Amino acid sequence: MIVGIDAGNYRVKVCGPQGLDIFSSTLGEFRERRIKNTPGKDDMIFEFEGRKGFAGSLADAESEFGGSIMGDSKAHEDAKLRIFLALHRYSQTTNQFQIIVGQPISKHTEEEKKRIKDMLKGSHEITVNDKTKVIRITHVEVAAEGGASFWSKPKDGLVRIIDVGSATVNCASLLNKRYIDKDSFTLPFGLNTVVSSDLSALARGIVTHTTKKWNNTDKGYLVGGAAEKLLPYIQQYYPNIEVMKPMLECGDDPIYANAIGFYKIGCSVYGKVNQK
Ligand SMILES: Nc1ncnc2c1ncn2[C@@H]1O[C@H](COP(=O)(O)OP(=O)(O)OP(=O)(O)O)[C@@H](O)[C@H]1O
Ligand SMILES: [Mg+2]
Repeated sequence: MIVGIDAGNYRVKVCGPQGLDIFSSTLGEFRERRIKNTPGKDDMIFEFEGRKGFAGSLADAESEFGGSIMGDSKAHEDAKLRIFLALHRYSQTTNQFQIIVGQPISKHTEEEKKRIKDMLKGSHEITVNDKTKVIRITHVEVAAEGGASFWSKPKDGLVRIIDVGSATVNCASLLNKRYIDKDSFTLPFGLNTVVSSDLSALARGIVTHTTKKWNNTDKGYLVGGAAEKLLPYIQQYYPNIEVMKPMLECGDDPIYANAIGFYKIGCSVYGKVNQK
């Protein structure tokens, strides 16, 4: 099965043939609880590679040291665990996957991509809420966050994309469906890393960087969980930037734009592999 997984610093977003899935990226330590609530869909107790802990909404509620390792690379153990949690949840009909995952633009290098592929490929055992599964990943491709969201709503011409995440802002440029590397970059801050929660200051921070390369009349999309809220502030500088509404029957929320883009890329890449 082909699945796109955007293992973000705030939420893990998944897109595949069975539709969309989302859960909190928080991971935390395990502890015995005196009183247990009825588990919710996103409450997860995991065991993976010698590590046991709480994940998702359970880690948000019950882990004292719960959190999400933030940063501008996703070649790390927590990102790996989030991806296997996503596949465990998505494996109702098969345990074998061809996946596309994301990496911020600034660390989208051959070396980092190889590290991500090597850490994910092959068979891995994971237990979630006492259910043990062996998940087999046969193929991995790594796409650029922000840039890949373009494929959830492709169009011709020059397109600028601002993907405001919790720890990173990915700014991508495409011309006639081709990625322009020199006009694409990652800013090392996001909605959850700035001290000030002032959206207008955050927008200004983004614009001071993007205007070095971009014109204020450029057209494009705003992507990520807070796209709707940020739009008025970004439009003060870029009036032709709008919220990305992915073209998918099961959802048009901009928080899924990368996951949907990854899935579309997967269908195109692996579709060809399968035909060989
Ligand atoms: N409906 C919403 N309204 C307002 N803010 C939201 C909403 N959903 C998410 N956010 C905020 O948007 C931010 C970005 O969410 P998003 O899921 O896009 O981040 P992420 O992809 O996990 O992070 P990163 O791209 O840095 O890995 C979060 O910090 C969150 O606080
Ligand atoms: Mg993101």
